[in-house]
Amino acid sequence: MVAAHTIVTIVGSLRKESFSLKIAHALAELAPEELQLDVMTLHDISFFNQDLEAAPPADWLAFRDRLHKSSGVLFVTPEYNRSIPGVLKNAIDVGSRPYGKSSFNGKPTGIIANSPGPLGGVNAAKHLQNILPGISGPIMQQPEIYLAGVGDAFDEKGELIKEALQQVLKQYIDAFAAFVEKHNK
Ligand code: FNR
Repeated sequence: MVAAHTIVTIVGSLRKESFSLKIAHALAELAPEELQLDVMTLHDISFFNQDLEAAPPADWLAFRDRLHKSSGVLFVTPEYNRSIPGVLKNAIDVGSRPYGKSSFNGKPTGIIANSPGPLGGVNAAKHLQNILPGISGPIMQQPEIYLAGVGDAFDEKGELIKEALQQVLKQYIDAFAAFVEKHNK
């Protein structure tokens, strides 16, 4: 079966060995067949600058187009200094413009925060829940997911080896698939 829904899966870390990136790839594998996760990092999104809005750079337009064509958006992010990383905020600013025409608009949205530490990036997730509502679609509220202790969840090949985490991710992505379906009718 061809996947019915493409989900732009935005990774909030640029790090090569990023746990967030590995979690995004694990989710792509665990996703039910009707969901295709288009995992993207933010290396190519240039700085938002309001002066450029009249003639936006090609990378902004490509990012907005990718969002427009999607059936939903999934954020997989670490927490930096009790908030979201700057690169993620920059991408959200780029996607939110032009004013009133956010490319996130109407897209069912999921938020997955994580940390090798004990708090699971909960503050990053909460900050996303604060800033997205004016520019996004519906945000899935349950199950909530703040992944703590992800530092030993992957082997040297990047494969997910922590069974408890795999179960949580599977539950989440199945719930998100149903949420996306509901909001794409
Ligand atoms: C961190 N880290 C971190 N962790 C956390 O749980 N809460 C926090 O507020 C912060 N703050 C923070 C700031 C900065 C600038 C860095 C570089 C790191 C640790 C962070 O969770 C850890 O480095 C993760 O491995 C980063 O995510 P990725 O790159 O593995 O996806």
